[in-house]
Amino acid sequence: MIKILVDKVSSEKILVTSALPYANGPIHLGHLSGAYLPADIFVRYHRSKGTDVIYVCGSDEHGVPITITADKEKITPKEVIDRFHNANIEAFEKFGMSFDIYSRTSHPTHHETAKEFFKNFYDRGLLNEKKSMQFFDPKANMFLPDRYVEGTCPKCGNEEARSDECENCGALYDPSELKNPKSKISGETPELRETSHWYFPLGKFQEELEKYVDASNKKYNWKENVLQYCYGWFKDGLKDRAVTRDLDWGVEVPLEGVDHKVLYVWFEAVLGYISAAKELGKEHGTPELWKKYWQGGDTRYVAFIGKDNVVFHTIIFPAMLMAWNEGNEDKYILPENVPANEFLNFEGKKFSKSRGWGIDVKEFLDIFPADPLRYTLGANLPENKDTDFYWKEFQSRNNGELADILGNFINRTFIFANKHFEGKVPQLGELTEMDSEMLQTIASYPAKIGELIEKYKMKDAIFEMMNLARAGNKYFNDSEPWKSVKTDKAACSTTVNICLQTIAALAEVFSPVIPESSSKIFTMLNLKPVGWQNAGKEILSGGHQLNKPEILFSKIEDEAIEAQVNKLGVVDGKKEDDNLISIDDFFKVELKTAEVVHAEKVKKSNKLLKLNLRIGKEKRQVVAGIAKSYTPDDIIGKKVIIVANLQPAKLMGVESQGMVLAVENIDGGLNVVELPENVETGVRVK
Ligand code: MF3
Ligand code: ZN
Repeated sequence: MIKILVDKVSSEKILVTSALPYANGPIHLGHLSGAYLPADIFVRYHRSKGTDVIYVCGSDEHGVPITITADKEKITPKEVIDRFHNANIEAFEKFGMSFDIYSRTSHPTHHETAKEFFKNFYDRGLLNEKKSMQFFDPKANMFLPDRYVEGTCPKCGNEEARSDECENCGALYDPSELKNPKSKISGETPELRETSHWYFPLGKFQEELEKYVDASNKKYNWKENVLQYCYGWFKDGLKDRAVTRDLDWGVEVPLEGVDHKVLYVWFEAVLGYISAAKELGKEHGTPELWKKYWQGGDTRYVAFIGKDNVVFHTIIFPAMLMAWNEGNEDKYILPENVPANEFLNFEGKKFSKSRGWGIDVKEFLDIFPADPLRYTLGANLPENKDTDFYWKEFQSRNNGELADILGNFINRTFIFANKHFEGKVPQLGELTEMDSEMLQTIASYPAKIGELIEKYKMKDAIFEMMNLARAGNKYFNDSEPWKSVKTDKAACSTTVNICLQTIAALAEVFSPVIPESSSKIFTMLNLKPVGWQNAGKEILSGGHQLNKPEILFSKIEDEAIEAQVNKLGVVDGKKEDDNLISIDDFFKVELKTAEVVHAEKVKKSNKLLKLNLRIGKEKRQVVAGIAKSYTPDDIIGKKVIIVANLQPAKLMGVESQGMVLAVENIDGGLNVVELPENVETGVRVK
């Protein structure tokens, strides 16, 4: 990883973090697409611009899952985290991540930081101690977190209910009411034991948090998905949250006479961003450096994460910082933006190690270089919705875009410069209209791309990068230097000069996404990176000596891709066709006919309609994302199909008791599946 703390030219200061991945498994392509690649693009862009930016990350090394892995493998938690911390560093390095530091939460600096926060809150009387009854597994000798207890719901009989909540019927109950409780860790029957924990008063900060989210959104335009999560939480009302756990692995609760208790992993993990910045300063002999970023007041802080981490970064962590700031002289800054991405799936399904679905990063990069992967993931980031990685797409982005557009343009220009201009940059002569236009085009791209990156629209930014290469190819073709070289050498010289200027601009604007190739291009140009501000200007002077060209992107053969596709879904040498379901599986889904009797728009949403349905004698309310295709009047009276046994869910605060079947049409709109008039409602569809 590159460590860059050079003199900065711009007055802007930015602190960038990516979610600290658990050191409990290898990172996969989904992680990279969520919180790492977008941040790396953002940071590399800002470095090129001369912004004073630091980028910190590290391993999240506490929490119950790590202790479970350790028990399973009969090794210590420390061995688990060492293994994955090191493996993930290696994978990140191969992928070209440019963290200024990759720290870890087992580091003493982190333990100190986390204890300092807890102790400060405790001393100021902010934390409430509460007693409660919790399941204890005598065999595993540990208190069980809710998700490690399973039992029968006292209300609906669902056998997979959690200790205090049933996902099937939505019931909330006291753990003592759960029937047949089982520990998921040992399979034994756990017993209820009294324990006590400290709670952080999140509710106290609700008003301030709402103001913070609103103000940040107004100023920095938060992503819609992130806002919706926040509003959902605010609407339900923020409640006290336990910030300690009965466990031996983690940051010990720093109170006299308290044993076998650690800080809740999320309470301390988010503080890892601060600890990591402290470590960065120490490494460079400037132990106070972190304050400049964390407590600088005028620093901008951007936290990159995946969607499953939103609440911790927009509510819990900010509340903790507010709580600190309220009672201390040194004030921390809060994230100005939390650009969370959705998930990346793999060839149409979720990544799953146990089902052999996906590929880990290291394995991938043992076979293919990093830049084509960065480019492919970047061009298809799950910025607004879940997306998929497809091997075929990887091949076509590499062969059809990187090699055939970008690589080809550079290659043909260099061949020309070598053959006809002795490997030197030819002079820029008199300009035709086409030449002037091309110079203007080159000059316009860096600002356009930079603006998109600053708005976290990495996908669009990457599209524009390739568009500049497309423009280069078109200019080359239209200028026909292979003709002018025979008839008008000065014109030819101008064309090749402008193509080389384009290549210099491409090297700079592509540098955040394909850094290795970008630096190869600079070497070929015999040029140092010029900085974003200079990209697109006339950088190369006539007569400048170029270096020998090299192949930037090799084509990926069909066989190499097929070999990877064939490996998918193979577990222990056997491939299962898990696309197939049994007839019983199918009948688990209760499809029924229904009639829409009433419909109205869901407030504040331009996508959702609230539908009242008649299903035989029953009445139900369903929220459907069809408002862009139907007005309420269009849909009333239609006979439709509904999934009748779907768990109820809330959409924009409105309860939905099922799902209406719909299909996307060729224009991208939605059509509900309509039944003829003469069908009765409440009939099973099979
Ligand atoms: N380890 C968590 C995950 O992988 C992320 C932690 S982010 C932090 O989902 F802020 F808590 F560090
Ligand atoms: Zn239930």
